[in-house]
Amino acid sequence: MEKTIALRVNGRAVSVTAMADTPLLYILRNDLALNGPKYGCGLGECGACTVILDGVAARSCVIPLAGAEGREVVTLEGLGSSAAPHPVQQAFIDEQAAQCGYCMNGMIMTAKALLDRNPTPTMDEVRRALSGNLCRCGTHVEILRAVMRAARLLSSPGAHHDDQPNARIAVPADADPCGADGGDRRPADR
Ligand code: FES
Ligand code: FES
Repeated sequence: MEKTIALRVNGRAVSVTAMADTPLLYILRNDLALNGPKYGCGLGECGACTVILDGVAARSCVIPLAGAEGREVVTLEGLGSSAAPHPVQQAFIDEQAAQCGYCMNGMIMTAKALLDRNPTPTMDEVRRALSGNLCRCGTHVEILRAVMRAARLLSSPGAHHDDQPNARIAVPADADPCGADGGDRRPADR
């Protein structure tokens, strides 16, 4: 049976009507049009679907919608925009830390959560934090450099960045984002 569940996504109150055990990833992608989080393994093993849940990096493919009730979710779209990237995003651009880019969401969101709790990590700490995020293209060296660069950017004098509430969520707080047809519950297209 479907249930209406309230949560906050990228700083906005959202109300979603869906089966309570629907993976949060499907809700973000299919119902809220937030395609930053990617569907990789669907088993909590690759990190492509990572979001920040109450300040902690979490795998949205294995978190049921009910598990996010009343909680704060931040997706890639909640960090910055192409016009004004978050320093972590800027660092990944500067280091050209992507080939296919499929792992980037998970790498960036995991790095963001790490830097929020530890603004000056060692390379070993960065390695440990990202050890569960898979990159099939082998851009690990550039990714590690990007996270260290992001730490420098964020800690440089005068550095300031307000995380930006997502401007692309078109779901009013009181709307049913499932629409009349109940939405598409299949794993999101890659
Ligand atoms: S898609 Fe969630 S961990 Fe792989
Ligand atoms: S850049 Fe392709 S999976 Fe990491």
